[in-house]
Amino acid sequence: MITSPSREEGVLGRCGLLYLPHATVETPVFMPVGTQATVKAMTPDELEEIGFGLILGNVYHLHLRPGEQLIARAGGLHRFEGWSGALLTDSGGYQVFSLSGLRRIGEEGVEFQSHIDGSRHLFTPQIVIEIERQLGADIIMAFDECPASTVSEEYIRQAMERTHRWAKICLEEHIRHGRMAVGGWPQALFGIVQGGISYELRAESARVLTELDFDGFAIGGLAVGEEAAVRNEIVAWTVRFLPENKPRYLMGVGTPVDILEAVRRGVDMFDCVLPTRNARNAQAFISEGVINLRNARYEQDFTPLDPKCECRVCRRHTRAYIRHLFKAKEILGPRLVTYHNLAFYHRLMRSIRHHLREGTFEVFYKSFRSTYQTEEE
Ligand code: GUN
Ligand code: ZN
Repeated sequence: MITSPSREEGVLGRCGLLYLPHATVETPVFMPVGTQATVKAMTPDELEEIGFGLILGNVYHLHLRPGEQLIARAGGLHRFEGWSGALLTDSGGYQVFSLSGLRRIGEEGVEFQSHIDGSRHLFTPQIVIEIERQLGADIIMAFDECPASTVSEEYIRQAMERTHRWAKICLEEHIRHGRMAVGGWPQALFGIVQGGISYELRAESARVLTELDFDGFAIGGLAVGEEAAVRNEIVAWTVRFLPENKPRYLMGVGTPVDILEAVRRGVDMFDCVLPTRNARNAQAFISEGVINLRNARYEQDFTPLDPKCECRVCRRHTRAYIRHLFKAKEILGPRLVTYHNLAFYHRLMRSIRHHLREGTFEVFYKSFRSTYQTEEE
């Protein structure tokens, strides 16, 4: 990764380039979530048209259905889902610990039951790396444990130490296979810093992981219910222990404001279900904040979703029409809002990169925060 730090005082944000086998990606970047080999409601053409070059997939879901062997037979996840850009697969270290009811955590790994049919499965660091090699994403994540925010600090420490031991095994497996996907292209492996909201544990986790030869580092275990102010402090603190020359990825974050706050603190990569999930709930991200199209006030509103947006949806359709689609339960409603929301996030990231380069990030940050309402009135 090539990075150029901001010249602005107090701004740790930087612009960079990720050179990946299937795309070169400008950072800071937002990655749409494509858990089940699809970014819900979008075609690859639409994602490409918006400008995305890197999207997510998930080991947990893809292992359960349709299975990594089938995907490998298709030529890997890129071919299987018809995506010509780059992919990142999350290791399932989050889903296994949050989605499934029945699970047993041991030193070797985690035994869990499928949320689909109740069948039993085992994830170990070795197994997860092998699944990720079969899927063939450009960036793969180490297998980690993301504990709930409600557990004791003692448990957070145990989970973190286990995550470190698993991280070493993941890296060994990755190196043993020449850092290559089954399909024959190189993969980048990222380590995941854990440690809850403890400064001590975060520093320790970052120190242990950065001694290992990972290609990048994620900050995991956040956006699990802690306050935004606490999260921002932990992010700022953790970034201090991460190397300048490798990408930093804040997992599962977040709202536009959360992203701006993290970029300011030196984070390069983000993923979040908000723009896609909220779209299916009739919520659109616009310059002034979030609007809910089910609200009666939009019944005769013949303006675009966001008058400042130039996306394909905003150029053609009105709030009143999209509201009608949701009321009538037409499938086009969720599709149009998803397209617009992703275009909104993509434009936000492009603006962030522009202002970092120009040395005007703070002005942009302040003006965004003053026009963007975080609560709908
Ligand atoms: N997604 C959001 N948070 C996390 C995390 O802590 N670990 C993993 N693997 N994925 C995440
Ligand atoms: Zn739009």
